[in-house]
Amino acid sequence: MGTESKEIKDAVRKRYAQAAKQASCCSPNEALTTLTSSCCPSAATPVKGHSGRLYSTEELQAVPQEARQVSLGCGNPVALAQIKPGQTILDLGSGGGIDCFLAVERVGLQGKVIGLDMTPEMIKLARENAQKMGLANVEFRLGEMEHMPVEDSTVDLIISNCVVCLSPDKDAVFREAFRVLRPGGKLCLSDMVFLGEIPIQVKDDAEKWVHCVAGALEKDDYLRRIAGAGFADIITNKLERREARPGEEWRSKMASLTVTAVKPAL
Ligand SMILES: C[S@@+](CC[C@H](N)C(=O)[O-])C[C@H]1O[C@@H](n2cnc3c(N)ncnc32)[C@H](O)[C@@H]1O
Repeated sequence: MGTESKEIKDAVRKRYAQAAKQASCCSPNEALTTLTSSCCPSAATPVKGHSGRLYSTEELQAVPQEARQVSLGCGNPVALAQIKPGQTILDLGSGGGIDCFLAVERVGLQGKVIGLDMTPEMIKLARENAQKMGLANVEFRLGEMEHMPVEDSTVDLIISNCVVCLSPDKDAVFREAFRVLRPGGKLCLSDMVFLGEIPIQVKDDAEKWVHCVAGALEKDDYLRRIAGAGFADIITNKLERREARPGEEWRSKMASLTVTAVKPAL
């Protein structure tokens, strides 16, 4: 696989289609053992244990088992986003829908949550989960975050959990996020970044892209690109370093970051 945009997207879609199919066809325990190469930090961690590290017990109890099984994030943007009742929220790369389901509780019946994902199998799974929960104000749209199928200035808050690092064109993602947010709207992203220089072992290794490694940017570069799209008040809310693995010491240079930023009011 090269590092061309289409090849990367195809590989990412294939990997997450497989994760969605495993979650919907297996019993919970089978899914736990088959989904072992999840994105982000938990490459060898059972998914249940993984989501248990990111979310509180109360949060996990509020979502269906099928959504917990495909929790592939690296943070908890919902917990840090200060969601208000009545807001319209957009989740970039919504996967099985876990963050959408947590967010919809907070916006209440006057609010709305839109999950956007480019993998049809993930959209199908998320819609099934929403149906099981009887939710009317969550919608899942198939599409790419580099050109979002969302109207200009219609969203109050964008969240995303370990997805922007998978994009071959992060500037397009931040540009689009700026376009769809209302003036004064907020961005709250959890994502993987490198602290300091990106190690040579992962640079240009497109095989590592789908696991949120090779597409991760150096932290300051990431924050600069958010600012470059026009965002202000950029705040790093949480930074958690990863641990080295035998033969992969470079992993200690990776961290999960949760960052907030605001589209300036007019
Ligand atoms: C690591 S998973 C995270 C899923 C979810 N946010 C969570 O926390 O469980 C990445 C998700 O992003 C989606 N994705 C990757 N690149 C995308 C893009 N360019 N546009 C839209 N969705 C994308 C994948 O299909 C996958 O469902």
